[in-house]
Amino acid sequence: MWAAGVLIVAFLATIAVGVAGSALQPPSHVETIDPTKVWNDPRFAHPGVTVDERGATVVAVGMMFAFMPAEIRVPAGRPVTFRLTSADVVHGFQIVGTNGNTMVVPGYISQFTTVFREPGEYLIVCNEYCGLGHHLMSAKLIVEEGGARP
Ligand code: CUA
Repeated sequence: MWAAGVLIVAFLATIAVGVAGSALQPPSHVETIDPTKVWNDPRFAHPGVTVDERGATVVAVGMMFAFMPAEIRVPAGRPVTFRLTSADVVHGFQIVGTNGNTMVVPGYISQFTTVFREPGEYLIVCNEYCGLGHHLMSAKLIVEEGGARP
């Protein structure tokens, strides 16, 4: 009994450490979209990056078996908000080596904000099995020192 209780406390503690220590949290932003009309929706008609004085916003679409856009440039050291959706099935969006990681679910817009301290090139992979070309589904994130200023 006590051992089970200790384990439960330990599991809860790992969640608390992840939230407080690594700023990991499930995307809680509930916004829906018609998955059959992604390309006509004004929110996703022009995927890409916009930069303003507060940081950057990345609008991207996951589809079998690519991300659009396939290359994303953002500034280092400033908040970057990702807004993602799928044009077909469930995909993943994991920026390897960072805390950027979310499911991309048709019908929903996944949104999260993070800051990239280290300039460099990061690999973005789909981490949800989405079909025969799943292993080919990737994109590149380029974090630039200073980055594009508005
Ligand atoms: Cu998309 Cu796996």
